Amino acid sequence: MKTDNGKGRSAPKSIMSTLSTSDWENTVPTTQEIEHQKPQLDEQQQNKLIKRIKQLLVEQNAVLVAHYYTDPVLQQLADETGGCVADSLEMARFGKASPADKIIVAGVRFMGETAKILSPEKKVFMPELEATCSLDLGCPAEDFIPFCDDHPDRVVVVYANTSARVKARADWVVTSGIASEVIKHLASEGKKILWAPDRHLGKYIQSITHADMLLWQGSCIVHDEFKADTLLTLKEKHPDARILVHPESPYTVVEMADLVGSTTQLIHAVKSMPDQTFIVATDNRIFYKMQQAAPDKTLIEAPTGGVGATCTMCAHCSWMAMNTLQGILKVLEQNINEVHVEESVRIKAFESTQRLLDFAAATK
Ligand code: 13P
Ligand code: SF4
Repeated sequence: MKTDNGKGRSAPKSIMSTLSTSDWENTVPTTQEIEHQKPQLDEQQQNKLIKRIKQLLVEQNAVLVAHYYTDPVLQQLADETGGCVADSLEMARFGKASPADKIIVAGVRFMGETAKILSPEKKVFMPELEATCSLDLGCPAEDFIPFCDDHPDRVVVVYANTSARVKARADWVVTSGIASEVIKHLASEGKKILWAPDRHLGKYIQSITHADMLLWQGSCIVHDEFKADTLLTLKEKHPDARILVHPESPYTVVEMADLVGSTTQLIHAVKSMPDQTFIVATDNRIFYKMQQAAPDKTLIEAPTGGVGATCTMCAHCSWMAMNTLQGILKVLEQNINEVHVEESVRIKAFESTQRLLDFAAATK
């Protein structure tokens, strides 16, 4: 892995040598493997599980907060029990504002940690603590901290998809829904940016803000599978379709978009745009909320992989797929899978994360 300032200059050798390709890349389970391992439930068993979870949520004053990429069954359960289904920014906000004692985060590790960072007085749990994210894995704190130290002239802005330790080293945490506004604001103050970890999102923001950004070279292994050539072929078959793209996708795909946005922004676009058909380049579990928002519209998955490629994620994040009803029930029955963040790290990560929430509130 190396860094790039977007002007064709690579990072100094000393930095590049510390950022070798990591072992985790060979151990990521495919989404098909995760789905295959899940115990299959018939409708009766599933309803029984849901009934028991609902009862325990009330008894324990607990709330379920789910990301749009989780199984629609979990999204429906969160909706029906007064929890929330949202993007990573709203999940953090909701958890903080909720009067619940326990927050159960159905999503990936950084989302659970963010909830804990913002709400230390609450107990935060996850159905599966192993559910992580390639952006988080690709930006280890032990590499990132010295990299920041080598660039003291730059404001450190990190995407929410990072560990608590990386957030603790950052000046700002941002999510895809607000990243370009924050960078525009910093650039207007003449600040130079060190951006991590998603290189595609970084490049997209750079293209619209023209800010001076040094980019960490991480990526989302799910969105990385969307390819411009196969998307073009699909668009030719559906010339009236509008293309909606999450900015973690490669820049060549972003360039083809009619709208680029966070998960929430993409859902709103399906509802608010007058068009009938949409090609969507993001995790396909988002279709559940899109279809609810606009039942009469036609949604088509953007193709994954290039010609001849084998698809490991197939537009669904294997870590998001690890969240199950059984996992939620275990949390409630056995009090396991609590998320902990070391207090000294949490305090620093709180500052950079709270800065995001304050900025979002001020610019609403
Ligand atoms: P959002 O902030 O848009 O929900 O994205 C989070 C994420 O992990 C997308 O892959
Ligand atoms: Fe991370 Fe990509 Fe999964 Fe989102 S979809 S959690 S960015 S690996």
